[in-house]
Amino acid sequence: MTNTQGGPRKQVHLAAHFPGVNNTTVWSDPRSGSHIEFESFRRFAQIAEGAKFDFLFLAEGLRLREQNGKIYDLDVVGRPDTFGVLTALAAVTQRIGLTGTINSTFNEPYDVARQFATLDHLSGGRAAWNVVTSWDAFTGENFRRGGFLAQDERYGRARSFLSAAAELFDSWNGDEIVADKETGTFLRHGSPGEFSVHDDHFDIEGHFNVPRSPQGRPVIFQAGDSDEGREFAASTADAIFTRHGTLDAGQAFYRDVKRRLAQYGRRHDELLVLPAATFILGDTEAEAQEYAAHVRRQQVSGQTAIKFAEQLWNRDLSSYDPDGPLPSVDPLVGENTIAKGRASVRMNADPVAVANEWRELAEARGLSLRDVVVEKTARQNFIGTAETVATTIDEYVQADASDGFILVPHITPDGLGEFADKVVPILQERGVFRAEYQGTTLRDHLGLTTPAARTRARAGSGAAS
Ligand SMILES: Cc1cc2nc3c(=O)[nH]c(=O)nc-3n(C[C@H](O)[C@H](O)[C@H](O)COP(=O)(O)O)c2cc1C
Repeated sequence: MTNTQGGPRKQVHLAAHFPGVNNTTVWSDPRSGSHIEFESFRRFAQIAEGAKFDFLFLAEGLRLREQNGKIYDLDVVGRPDTFGVLTALAAVTQRIGLTGTINSTFNEPYDVARQFATLDHLSGGRAAWNVVTSWDAFTGENFRRGGFLAQDERYGRARSFLSAAAELFDSWNGDEIVADKETGTFLRHGSPGEFSVHDDHFDIEGHFNVPRSPQGRPVIFQAGDSDEGREFAASTADAIFTRHGTLDAGQAFYRDVKRRLAQYGRRHDELLVLPAATFILGDTEAEAQEYAAHVRRQQVSGQTAIKFAEQLWNRDLSSYDPDGPLPSVDPLVGENTIAKGRASVRMNADPVAVANEWRELAEARGLSLRDVVVEKTARQNFIGTAETVATTIDEYVQADASDGFILVPHITPDGLGEFADKVVPILQERGVFRAEYQGTTLRDHLGLTTPAARTRARAGSGAAS
């Protein structure tokens, strides 16, 4: 079997995104459960593991979002700590990878490395870290230093942070502990975990207190789209989490990031591209389309439509009718002050141009404000029968639009079940998705090598006194 370029068929990687804090999650659907009780996480993880998915993914937001000066509560509000959730999940799963999004701006390398190395131990080598830099000073206000780094300085800190964490992960060779009860010798070498990092961002040294973990280092993800973010990923990450989930956008993004690898002496297969993707299944194409339209309107209520429009217009539009026309006033250009703590705010680089596009669409098709928001913010990537969705996913992967997908169901926690039951078996039959886990670590599932341990003689090596 070959792909569209005549090469061997690629294996599809699949992961499960526990729905985050945005309007993809339809919390008001009668089938939706808690987004915070452990039972939800357990069910979600076990459905994904039953389907032999590569990993489970948690996004993170460090401050409750606000709009018009009030907590934004049209979507899910609140989420528990990533390490607490993933560590608990390690105990009720055996093989599935556990990926946590952890910010490099507001944390410290020693703490984060200790938590990931611990998760890697407790899960038997299934930890992954999605390194994000966060986007705003508003989030930073929750932390000791306040919003202390401007956007363009955050990748500088992220680089130093990751390199410091790598130094910590690699500070143990893996052979230091002998624990010989006969001779009373615990350590082979006298000074494990020694590290020293002195650069523009960190001035730390000492001994790391977590022995080398099963994967050596957690798998490293990057999520960020700027040129700088892409360079950061090409130089250091094992995988990228992206929003470019359509065929054309995916192919362009894939080409771009893979092209960047060579200058860092890295091979094409050392960085996986994994877009987020939603799905809607039906017994027929027509049924799937009809259900997709229903879900879109569940995701964009009248109130939600006004809030989305406010984010673009950067003004209070609460007096507008969502079933009426778009505002005739122009968006306020400049710093977006209406919505705080949301990534989508940054996507509106040219709000006046986007508003004009929205108006043209409304006029051409006679759409209301809500209709336009439904149309413009729809996030369903794959809509169809199980057969057509499996075929499309396979085609996208073979056509290098991605190496697989991180699936985001709209129902928590059971929304993944239908995909697991209906789409996964088709991909397995076609030989593009595993029927059983082949290895035990996340690196095994993703086809990534384990970084070599640092084998160097340390100062003071020899039996411990
Ligand atoms: C697909 C995607 C998912 C992201 N998820 C998160 C997240 O869960 N938490 C977070 O703090 N930042 C998240 N980010 C923000 C990035 O970490 C980054 O700060 C932001 O995109 C700015 O970087 P950029 O200019 O390179 O895009 C995400 C970004 C992308 C593109």
